[in-house]
Amino acid sequence: MPEILTPMDRMEQQTDRMKENISRVRYKIAVMSGKGGVGKTTVAVNLAALFAAKGYKVGLLDADIDCPNIGKILGINETFQFTDSKRLIPIEKYDIKIASMSFFGQPEDTPHIFRGPIIHSAIMQMLEMTEWGLLDFLIIDMPPGTSDAALTIMQFVPLDGIVIVTTPQELSLQDATRSANVAKQFGKRFGIVENMAGDVFGKGADKIARQLDAPFLGSLPLSKEIRESCDKHMPIVLASEKIRKEFEKIVENLKKKVLG
Ligand SMILES: Nc1ncnc2c1ncn2[C@@H]1O[C@H](COP(=O)(O)OP(=O)(O)OP(=O)(O)O)[C@@H](O)[C@H]1O
Ligand SMILES: [Mg+2]
Repeated sequence: MPEILTPMDRMEQQTDRMKENISRVRYKIAVMSGKGGVGKTTVAVNLAALFAAKGYKVGLLDADIDCPNIGKILGINETFQFTDSKRLIPIEKYDIKIASMSFFGQPEDTPHIFRGPIIHSAIMQMLEMTEWGLLDFLIIDMPPGTSDAALTIMQFVPLDGIVIVTTPQELSLQDATRSANVAKQFGKRFGIVENMAGDVFGKGADKIARQLDAPFLGSLPLSKEIRESCDKHMPIVLASEKIRKEFEKIVENLKKKVLG
């Protein structure tokens, strides 16, 4: 008689396959925030580009299933190619191996309206089915918030660290604290990156880091250069020496204080 699998058995098997597929990734790092639009994708893309520029082998997973932005930010118009065994070949740009829902070739403005279980399943499948190979770093760009995608990543992926991005604005800081508390509940190590600091939103996310007893990884200014690099589909770390230096500090702190 064939073995009958319960949904829980299937989920366990999928988790095992996913873990096996990313077992050759040294560091798995998620970039998250409570609030939307604070710069997660910008930070994720630039961390990946900086690691790649330093000669590390890097992957980037767009875990934003209903609003995937990585393809747009990096100017990728290709769609996934498949191996003979129907596995996904990540698309390479700036020496980064990238996987995103947008590479399945649906028109850019097609709404992806998914309930939680589908989001869970899509993230698990992209982690499991992508030929990541041997990587030093896998950066996971998360959608905003602490629900479906965040829970899947924190519960199932053996993360080595989380980068929480916040603007210095009160509302964003409050939501960053929420994200940090979820990370704590899952026993994950994390650090705080302040983005869009300057005259408009002010400064001060380092205070939140102290309150949370978490490392403050660095601060990025609100700058026209960063915004324009997004329109030019070029990671700012490859175009601006000044901003690259700020990312260098973030990377050093991340290595020492979160991954170390
Ligand atoms: N430091 C900055 N200075 C100027 N513009 C910035 C900065 N950081 C991000 N941006 C711009 O702000 C917008 C939102 O950034 P981004 O997409 O990275 O945010 P996000 O947190 O990933 O958003 P979402 O929650 O929708 O995923 C983009 O247009 C980006 O170019
Ligand atoms: Mg984003």
